[in-house]
Amino acid sequence: MILRSRIVGVGAHLPARVVSNEELAEKVDTSNEWIIERTGIRQRHIAAEGEKTSDLAIAAARKALAAAGMTGEDLGMIVVATATPDNTFPATSTRVQAALGMTKGFALDVQAVCSGFIFALSVADNFIKSGQVTSALVIGAETFSRILDWEDRTTCVLFGDGAGAVVLKAEQGEGTSADTGILSTHLHSDGRHYDLLHVDGGPSSTQTVGHLRMEGREVFRHAVTNLASVVQEALEANGMKSDDIDWLVPHQANMRILEGTGRKLKMPAERIIVTVDRHANTSAASVPLALAEAVGDGRIKAGDVVLLEAMGGGFTWGAALVRM
Ligand code: ACO
Repeated sequence: MILRSRIVGVGAHLPARVVSNEELAEKVDTSNEWIIERTGIRQRHIAAEGEKTSDLAIAAARKALAAAGMTGEDLGMIVVATATPDNTFPATSTRVQAALGMTKGFALDVQAVCSGFIFALSVADNFIKSGQVTSALVIGAETFSRILDWEDRTTCVLFGDGAGAVVLKAEQGEGTSADTGILSTHLHSDGRHYDLLHVDGGPSSTQTVGHLRMEGREVFRHAVTNLASVVQEALEANGMKSDDIDWLVPHQANMRILEGTGRKLKMPAERIIVTVDRHANTSAASVPLALAEAVGDGRIKAGDVVLLEAMGGGFTWGAALVRM
């Protein structure tokens, strides 16, 4: 017998304000047609003035805890994945901890940009598998609208704000791929590609927050290759084939990347969860937002095998294979 992390609750939260492509086209030189054709994005949610990453994270966390029938006091740890923290310190997760009334255990942030949720899930899973905690709250939360250059049409049309959360609980498993819970996680990074995707500010470099800078076409090329390889790695580690996967829940960066990964896996489009059209790229929030939507509307059910994957700045990339 081994310890497994079972997903016992999911939740998500989006800011109320929706910004359409047409609204953006009034401010920068772009068009609804260009954005839809190149990315599949139709709209994005943008946080209101004063609405912080922790506000989105707390709202998503409350829903995930309610779905699990738990409160903050039942948690052993909180991991928040974010590249847009409220402040340089303390960790945004400690704000969430206080709001949830959790006074024991610990909270930490994980920074792997768009792959952040997969990295955070892996951190929490390893704490559970090693027996150090018996429950964990894992959140992906971002306010990318705060680090966009709203005059740069090559990036500002691509991103949105939001948060998604899952509650994990320790359960006994057999140690086979027939177990329920997180079956495996696979993480990678390659620090050589800083110039292709980074924020040109920060406390120790410019003492400013800075703006997101991206060589979109190059990032696209790396994303397709890295995602295909990490997805294969996850399948092989569990002795599975793509036919064994009920649902692909990919990072929502670009519809063309989602379709490319689906084609490589030979997965029909109806088994790929897509939210990029309505949420745009919400970085670390995108995978748990998509997961929460598909669990909430009944597509993903108990027992289904779900493959989560993401790629982001760093570069970082990873996958997690889960039986719900
Ligand atoms: N509106 C109109 N035209 C535009 C816009 C826009 N918003 N943005 C760029 N263009 C123009 C360009 O200037 C270029 O014009 P030119 O040919 O005259 O030079 C033309 O459109 C084509 O530009 P490309 O950059 O080659 O377009 P591409 O098809 O590569 O699409 C995109 C760009 C959508 C950014 C794509 O490359 C992409 O999705 N890349 C991956 C992003 C990603 O996966 N990120 C994940 C990680 S994000 C993270 O970690 C934070």
